[in-house]
Amino acid sequence: MTTENAGDGPTLDSVRTDQVRAELRSEIVRLCIGAHAEQDFENLFSYLPPDGLHFLAHDRDRLVGHAVSTTRWLQPGALPLLRTAYVDAVATRPEYQGRGVGSAVMRYLAEAIADYEIACLETDRQAFYERLGWEEWIGPLAGRSEGGLIPTPDQRGIMILRLPTTPRLDLKEQLTIEVSPLRIW
Ligand SMILES: CC(C)(COP(=O)(O)OP(=O)(O)OC[C@H]1O[C@@H](n2cnc3c(N)ncnc32)[C@H](O)[C@@H]1OP(=O)(O)O)[C@@H](O)C(=O)NCCC(=O)NCCS
Repeated sequence: MTTENAGDGPTLDSVRTDQVRAELRSEIVRLCIGAHAEQDFENLFSYLPPDGLHFLAHDRDRLVGHAVSTTRWLQPGALPLLRTAYVDAVATRPEYQGRGVGSAVMRYLAEAIADYEIACLETDRQAFYERLGWEEWIGPLAGRSEGGLIPTPDQRGIMILRLPTTPRLDLKEQLTIEVSPLRIW
């Protein structure tokens, strides 16, 4: 676990999914349900691999912000598959929203995943992420499973973050993701 505290802001740290104790798991789940008003976050930890990486913001002992990154594989256009930090469960405790917690978590995350080839997430809050350097994918989207390509023409809000080793990208090309057992995007 690493810890960082920038002046008056929240304390930031990261921890692997398999190192998250039961009490912190419950706190993360409660935070995500509270921020997103979505009960399905109860199952968050059943979707995450052991090497997921959680980014946490604390105000003293209180968890106020969270995001988690897992490894997936994206193929932009005809480029090789890129090792991708896929970001989920971005959430700030409601009474702390609009005070820079989410931005601090996402900036901290971007530094910590800099050795990936690209980062990706799905959102309906594009403006928030654009301010932090994320870009919405414009071209067609698809998943790839063992059975072949699965176009996802109705999918919206897929954004990417260029990292130091991200190759030159054309956001108008097709973006393909290797599907996970439980979801495409
Ligand atoms: C989206 C979310 C994670 C953002 O977290 P947050 O802590 O509110 O984020 P910030 O405070 O850093 O930024 C939020 C806004 O406040 C503004 N802001 C940041 N610091 C500020 C400050 N000190 N004073 C005033 N405004 C500030 C930002 O410019 C930003 O504006 P924008 O939303 O128009 O881009 C949070 O609102 C949330 O949990 N929402 C519910 C769940 C959700 O939608 N998650 C994301 C889906 S992927």
